[in-house]
Amino acid sequence: LSSIDVDLSAIEAGQAIKTMWRKQPLFIRNLTAAEIAEADAVPLSDLRDPETLTERTIEGHENWLITLAVCTHLGCVPLGAGEGENKGDYGGYFCPCHGSHYDTAARIRKGPAPRNLAVPEYEFTSDTTVTIG
Ligand code: FES
Repeated sequence: LSSIDVDLSAIEAGQAIKTMWRKQPLFIRNLTAAEIAEADAVPLSDLRDPETLTERTIEGHENWLITLAVCTHLGCVPLGAGEGENKGDYGGYFCPCHGSHYDTAARIRKGPAPRNLAVPEYEFTSDTTVTIG
């Protein structure tokens, strides 16, 4: 299966992009310090699918949140990566199909989705380039 290289240099803090990988949509988000703090402040006991932001990112690159853009309920593409899009009640992503809300670590917080948005295999090949897959 193929991997892709993505240049991150144009994605500013607070922005997210949607791209494609292995025929699936993928979100790449540059978290702000406030978004990281918000994710870190959530007790694991509040989470349906308990994972820390640290577990969902790579050490030294914790601001880069890379997940599939596929809702874990029935597979719709959530909103939240575009300018002015609805980020939901927890500031991450919102799936309009049946109302699942994901937080700034793309963890499910409200609505029918059972799991967090999935994190693919990836590695940083430079400070601004990531290889996914
Ligand atoms: Fe996302 Fe149902 S597919 S809430």
